[in-house]
Amino acid sequence: MRHLLSTQDLSVDEATELLDEAERFEQALTGREVRKLPTLRGRTVMTVFYENSTRTRVSFEVAGKWMSADVINVSASSSSAGKGESLRDTVKTLHAAGADALIVRHPASGAAHQIASWTEVDGDGPAVINAGDGTHEHPTQALLDALTLRQRLGSLEGRRIGIVGDVLHSRVARSNAHLLATLGAEVVLIAPQTLLPVGVAEWPVTVSHSLDAELPTLDAVMLLRVQAERMNGGFFPSAREYSVRYGLNDRRLALLDDNAVILHPGPMLRGMEIGYSVADSPRATVLEQVRNGVHVRMAVLFRLLVGTDSPGTQ
Ligand code: CP
Repeated sequence: MRHLLSTQDLSVDEATELLDEAERFEQALTGREVRKLPTLRGRTVMTVFYENSTRTRVSFEVAGKWMSADVINVSASSSSAGKGESLRDTVKTLHAAGADALIVRHPASGAAHQIASWTEVDGDGPAVINAGDGTHEHPTQALLDALTLRQRLGSLEGRRIGIVGDVLHSRVARSNAHLLATLGAEVVLIAPQTLLPVGVAEWPVTVSHSLDAELPTLDAVMLLRVQAERMNGGFFPSAREYSVRYGLNDRRLALLDDNAVILHPGPMLRGMEIGYSVADSPRATVLEQVRNGVHVRMAVLFRLLVGTDSPGTQ
């Protein structure tokens, strides 16, 4: 694996191996007073974020530091991008400065693929990890969601997973739909027609418009954040109508099977897509997802920068 740009590039074996590797890292760190492995000593990892982030940026930084990499954080607002430097010149600059891996978040769909293609032209460039490109993909989010589901449900084979809400603007939904299907799950998108993307018929999913009808059939429900920042000031249905039809409130929680789990990638809009008490219920995995995010990102960095089949946890 040279880059991680899309879950559509992962075979079932590659995806499973990344999840297994993440669990090996978790086990290797459990109970240690000093959470530091020598795995990436001497390697330089740069996070390059052109959009806001808490979970993804921090967990990549923690992952790199726990593996002894040198981690540099570049934010667009405080870099020379603010003076008009092009994305390509920024990438060439970070390559020249010694980056072994670039972890990129950008508002343009396809930005990570574009950067990866530039690194090929320049030869021997850094590995590129897509940390979210516009409305396109967020592969490490899907991997950490799959790990959380595997830990809570056992195998994903035959499990029915509902992805609910603003699918249109969600890179989390696309990455999850493909990865969960690769791992054998049955994925149903539950959304109003206005919040489904053109081309969804080519995704490996079924589509429903009724959350109430689907909830009793699900092993897991993944709620998406309503991405108002990508909606040019307005969306249909209205916020109130959305919350009434697609919000997971206390009444709807009772429709779920007792063993079903609730995921949210964060940040959550409590009272919109998820009820206040639902978000804190023991069936919600929000903070487990964050913890798994660190181990998944360790596994991805290990695979891309070391790349052997030997465990990266020594
Ligand atoms: N889930 C996710 O990508 O969160 P951040 O935007 O905080 O990184």
